[in-house]
Amino acid sequence: MPDTIHYGDGPRHVAIIMDGNGRWATMRGRPRLFGHHAGAKRVREVVRSCDEVGVKYLTIFAFSTENWKRTQVEVAGLMSLFRRYIAKEARALRDENVRVRFIGDRVRLDAKLTGLMDEMEAQTADCTGVNLTVAINYGGRDEVARATQRLARDVQAGKLDPADVTVETLPRYLDTCVLPDPDLVIRTSGEARISNFLLWQSAYAEYEFVDTLWPDFTAGEFAGLVSNYAMRDRRFGAVKA
Ligand code: FPP
Repeated sequence: MPDTIHYGDGPRHVAIIMDGNGRWATMRGRPRLFGHHAGAKRVREVVRSCDEVGVKYLTIFAFSTENWKRTQVEVAGLMSLFRRYIAKEARALRDENVRVRFIGDRVRLDAKLTGLMDEMEAQTADCTGVNLTVAINYGGRDEVARATQRLARDVQAGKLDPADVTVETLPRYLDTCVLPDPDLVIRTSGEARISNFLLWQSAYAEYEFVDTLWPDFTAGEFAGLVSNYAMRDRRFGAVKA
């Protein structure tokens, strides 16, 4: 084994782009929403496995700022799936000590959904186990634009000196301000793109692109990717002694 390989710790924060639900359903001659429902079951399974594999933060991309371009039927179906998932899972996640947060722009979401999101965040606010963050109406560029608006308001109000806008202070304005940066980003379904997910936060993340369609992604495959990560040599641009 070459001695340049560094066996590090597992990833503390894993982010997942859950792709391939539509193709999975189409391959079965079913509507795309059937794939999203099957995908939701995998979310459950992966969240529940985090404790066991030592992942403290899991962030999942549920709906992007670009997903509004899908048919009205699919968008409405996804929104209804989110409402149902939240209503159904809130108690179980709380009982499992999972702290749930949402990121993304809530302005375009309906009041019923944002009400459930607020409730779920409040109900799990004192949970100390796995931190699950669900990105809904989220886009990395949109997040940076919204953060910049907040930052500009602080400058205008005299609360922030422009000279103090640095790589340390700017992330405090992002939706993810309380989260560590992701160590590992996984994308399913064979596409090797980041699609506007956690652009600022993933500057030093490792990426895993796997062919599995999201509804076929198991806790076992997740555990394998998490253990691969620990085998990688992470230098953050520096040279290790
Ligand atoms: C991408 O597959 C998937 C989505 C846009 C939706 C993700 C949503 C879920 C997995 C539902 C459950 C989530 C929660 C939080 C309950 P795609 O439709 O782009 O698939 P395709 O590329 O094959 O068309």
